[in-house]
Amino acid sequence: MEFKIALIRGDGIGPEVVNGAVTVIDKVAEKFGHKITYVDVDMGGNATDKYGVSYPAGTAEKCKACDAVLLGAVGGPKWGPDKPAEQRPETALLAIRKDLGLFANLRHATLRPALIDACPLKDEIAQKGIDIMMVRELIGGVYFGKRDRYETADCGVECTDLMAYSEMEIERVGRQAFELAMKRRKKVTSVDKANVLETSRLWRSVMHRLAQEYPEVEYEDYLVDNTAMQLVRDPSQFDVVVTENMFGDILSDEASMITGSLGMLPSASIGAQAPGLYEPIHGSAPDIAGQDKANPIATILSVAMMFKYSFNLPEEASAIEQAVDAVLAEGWHTPDIAGQGEPVGTKRMSALICEHI
Ligand code: IPM
Ligand code: MG
Repeated sequence: MEFKIALIRGDGIGPEVVNGAVTVIDKVAEKFGHKITYVDVDMGGNATDKYGVSYPAGTAEKCKACDAVLLGAVGGPKWGPDKPAEQRPETALLAIRKDLGLFANLRHATLRPALIDACPLKDEIAQKGIDIMMVRELIGGVYFGKRDRYETADCGVECTDLMAYSEMEIERVGRQAFELAMKRRKKVTSVDKANVLETSRLWRSVMHRLAQEYPEVEYEDYLVDNTAMQLVRDPSQFDVVVTENMFGDILSDEASMITGSLGMLPSASIGAQAPGLYEPIHGSAPDIAGQDKANPIATILSVAMMFKYSFNLPEEASAIEQAVDAVLAEGWHTPDIAGQGEPVGTKRMSALICEHI
């Protein structure tokens, strides 16, 4: 088959991990007989340096002309929160998610067998395993609500960030979670703060309605603070976890860390139509950028998700995942994860994974 992939290499370690992932895509294409072409798309801090804006006109259109988008990471201290919005890399990230209609962000936290020792939780907890599909609503809530900043009479400046959710927005991401659960261990945990927030009370009622449609799926409501605690107490209890945008942002970092390293966790952002966007959940790590130290595995596993969800090629996806596990089982590791002997760099790790495909 033929596919066109938009590459947003981004900032910091972004270009290095994308390069590593591209070698893996090429290897899969060669082995399974696919033809894959790439289109480079500038976005993030590098685009600000080049064009003065982090999200140049036409970015979304270029991506829409492809079958999938692979993103490294954007951001860095050079383009910090003090810069105008149009220069900040995060503005571009939110804009591309919105413009492509990517309402569901799937973050798959698994404790890979070879990395069980890297799990910071107690051994008896780690032994029970971790395989959580976190489904984060991605284009609504407080990330996209109205913001305001104004002077008050006696308290100085005051700001507001509005969190809004409609039934439609909740239902479409909820449905995604139930559908995924049907293909997994048939359990959905919906996370909210219904004891305080009105948006959460609506969230919960929509989820309950959906739960009726999926009688085979075991369903439970968890409050977000309790979820943060349960994730370290007993992560094996979770199958699919579905939650709103900001709760999902926070909980997915926690879920990734308990699997051993931020450098291991892939994500897929999908909407009603192609293309989906695939990116590691880690950031641009400017402190190690350009030194061939970054772990490319999160990006490579994101490519596996691309083959599965955008190209509908589960066999190719498994080939990538198995290659990653095989390389880790042999003790190979980048500096951020445990293993045997000296750590290897981004390029070598990517090459090793290619050799095992
Ligand atoms: C993520 C990141 C982004 C987010 C930032 C960089 C805007 O933390 O993808 O989780 O909060 O969504
Ligand atoms: Mg985050």
